[in-house]
Amino acid sequence: MPIIEWNVSYLLGIHEIDQHHEHLVQLINKAYDQFRCGADIEPSFVDELVDYAGMHFACEEGWMTESSYPKFVEHKEEHKLFNCRILELQNKSKTSSGISVELLWFLCNWVTHHMRETDAEFGRYVDLRNIRKRTGRIQASNR
Ligand SMILES: [Fe+2]
Repeated sequence: MPIIEWNVSYLLGIHEIDQHHEHLVQLINKAYDQFRCGADIEPSFVDELVDYAGMHFACEEGWMTESSYPKFVEHKEEHKLFNCRILELQNKSKTSSGISVELLWFLCNWVTHHMRETDAEFGRYVDLRNIRKRTGRIQASNR
């Protein structure tokens, strides 16, 4: 059983972002599967996660800038806190073993909470403002 069960409640309705979220969940589930089979989380997993999350956050923030999202600064701060926490765990893994549980616990909680609350709020903003998407760009509809 995956640590995060992907379902429609995670969808924002912005295809590009939804695809990123699904991929992030797949990465975490893959690491969890390996952990359940007795393997510690590989440093290469954390590297891949950091790279992917960085690309994804930049993309999400791009959408927010283009749509003049009023909660952009707070949202970006949450992304920064994620990066700081992952960095802390990366550093901790160099001096102590067995950070896998702590890492998986953090990832599972942060990612599900962030998608359901903070990202969902942006999704509702896009819906309410009737902002249309065209080939990856935001275009405000005529009001
Ligand atoms: Fe986000």
